[in-house]
Amino acid sequence: MTGAADRERPIGVFDSGLGGLTVLRALHRRLPCEDIVYFGDTARVPYGTKGARTVVDFARQDAGLLVARGVKMVVVACNTASAFALQHLREVLPVPVLGVIEPGVATALRATRGGPVGVIGTPGTIGSGRYQEGLALGRDGLAGLSPERILVGECPLLVPLVEAGWLDHPATGMILDTYLEPLRAAGVDTLILGCTHYPLLKDPIAAYMGEKTVLVDSAEALAEAAEALLGERGLRRRDGAPGDREPAGRLEFHLSDIPWKFAEIGARFLGKPITDVRTVSLEEMEEAGRLPTEG
Ligand code: DGL
Repeated sequence: MTGAADRERPIGVFDSGLGGLTVLRALHRRLPCEDIVYFGDTARVPYGTKGARTVVDFARQDAGLLVARGVKMVVVACNTASAFALQHLREVLPVPVLGVIEPGVATALRATRGGPVGVIGTPGTIGSGRYQEGLALGRDGLAGLSPERILVGECPLLVPLVEAGWLDHPATGMILDTYLEPLRAAGVDTLILGCTHYPLLKDPIAAYMGEKTVLVDSAEALAEAAEALLGERGLRRRDGAPGDREPAGRLEFHLSDIPWKFAEIGARFLGKPITDVRTVSLEEMEEAGRLPTEG
């Protein structure tokens, strides 16, 4: 697909819940003319503590739903789903698929100055070994790192703390310090925020790690990679006329559940209120999971 009609199609973004709105926000900032359809699997979040097979099944349904909505590219905003399902989705979907891990790895390899590189994420993301593998292999012509230069940390408590809005609560500070202490002690010069929720904790993380540590925000890295991929495939929508002030791209939201405090939590991740939300039933999702290969 590379025709003019294809360029007009929306970008699809999915996540286990609302955290992926940080990725949507970065994408919308970088590509303001693109329409974006977001799907958040709020009925089944979190993915970060679930097993690989479940995450692959869910990711397939999430992506299938977006493909059924006519998207030109699927962005896997969720680190855990990128870790377990990216390869599978690339095999079964009829459109290009981009995950957050590869862009995050490339950005970290460019940023490091010879010290160790740290990655923090959910138990699933860290347990999958995908970030470690990517850093060891190297990317985009950048050399891989030796094993002693790759340090990881599972941070399962950060997702619920961010959802609760405890961004500068002392309890969050204590938990962050506990998780980050081994990475700081090892002198990491680059730290990948390998979870949709962690960009919201950038300030306390930066303060604790000190100014010598570069923080890699997966959302920003992904937005850059998405722009490049659309350009390479001739799928980028024409930019608005010079002088256009308002971004022309439309944002559409689909969720599998409307959780308590949805408006408050959603606005925290997106940076503005979410409007135009549609709900998707689990039956519809199971059907969507069959589309890519059997539809
Ligand atoms: N979206 C997930 C990730 O980036 C975090 C939330 C979850 O565990 O589902 O890994």
